[in-house]
Amino acid sequence: MIETAARLALPLLRLLPPETAHQATLRALHAAPAPRHRTDDPSLAVTVLGRAFTNPVGLAAGFDKNAEVPDALTGWGFGFVEIGTVTPRPQAGNPRPRLFRLTPDRAVINRMGFNNEGHEAVAARLRRRDRAGGCLGANLGKNRDSADAVADYCKGVDVFGPLADYLVINVSSPNTPGLRDLQRRGELSVLIDAVMERRTALKLDRPPPVLLKIAPDLSPQEIADIAETVNASAIDGLIVSNTTVARPASLESRQAPEPGGLSGKPLFESSTQLLAEMYRLTRGRLPLIGVGGIASGEDAYAKIRAGASLVQLYTALVYQGPGLVRRIKTDLAALLRRDGFRTLGEAIGSGNTMGKAPQRRGAQEKQNDHGA
Ligand SMILES: Cc1cc2nc3c(=O)[nH]c(=O)nc-3n(C[C@H](O)[C@H](O)[C@H](O)COP(=O)(O)O)c2cc1C
Repeated sequence: MIETAARLALPLLRLLPPETAHQATLRALHAAPAPRHRTDDPSLAVTVLGRAFTNPVGLAAGFDKNAEVPDALTGWGFGFVEIGTVTPRPQAGNPRPRLFRLTPDRAVINRMGFNNEGHEAVAARLRRRDRAGGCLGANLGKNRDSADAVADYCKGVDVFGPLADYLVINVSSPNTPGLRDLQRRGELSVLIDAVMERRTALKLDRPPPVLLKIAPDLSPQEIADIAETVNASAIDGLIVSNTTVARPASLESRQAPEPGGLSGKPLFESSTQLLAEMYRLTRGRLPLIGVGGIASGEDAYAKIRAGASLVQLYTALVYQGPGLVRRIKTDLAALLRRDGFRTLGEAIGSGNTMGKAPQRRGAQEKQNDHGA
């Protein structure tokens, strides 16, 4: 019913400026009834990061920055929803316009600049929420004018650690000056160690796993450095990747020169390559969330075969609406069946040339070793 309404509304929403359309979508979701519980195909279930997911398809950060409607979004069929990026203090972000549709390219450019209501307002919303509502990640950032980035992330751990199923250290958005420098070797290990210590200090019964979200615009040396840092740290997983500042020559839209992060189809190849590389460099031992340009079940499957235990998407929703989530799940289950995988866990990394042959039926002994 909601999906039908959304499908009918999509052409109208596209007539609005992108940010207005987005706000209209959030308002409509506010009014949406609580989602009915739907069951996913059992082959899509995966236990990773110590959590059981009924399906691996998540909503990427940036859609519900202020945690206004995470449970209504779960009702679209997502296996998990990531809210944020949230910064300690509220901030307005960059001046508008700051969000651009590149329709011929099936892409978006954004330079939102972490507009959000700040830790307290967002956490208050999450405290009112029923934790049984669905798996929720909180994506943490730093204020643009912050003098101490590490302290900002640590505050995020204090506030959202007790409220979220996982936390994300986001050091990869291109629209906060200097943020991506935190991916540099020295800075990164200081940041990760501080965040992990802070999590321990919370003394929670079930401490949330912490993931690092990285950019696709890294040199081979930077990629190697991040992998080494991550391997030597206690971090629980990686999200690969954020938007890109690159502008592939294939872009046709006149909006292509707009500054900001590019997402959607043109990001698919580079983000999947980086995912595969990170899977190899972390020797398949670290859970990876693959994100960037997923617009179909085949795209999601490619990320999983490259090494992702879970996937996320955002931009394709702009073009295909919420019905896409169910289509991806149906197609993904069919692809697993086609290739003889009984469970998603068997397919993770199976297309990666890390030395493992692609796994078919008969190789089912391989359990998802990222499990609890
Ligand atoms: C409008 C917009 C806002 C975004 N905001 C955030 C954000 O606040 N934090 C973050 O980590 N990623 C943010 N992202 C990046 C997405 O989470 C995702 O990594 C990226 O868009 C690639 O996925 P996609 O091609 O499926 O959109 C944003 C993306 C878009 C399009």
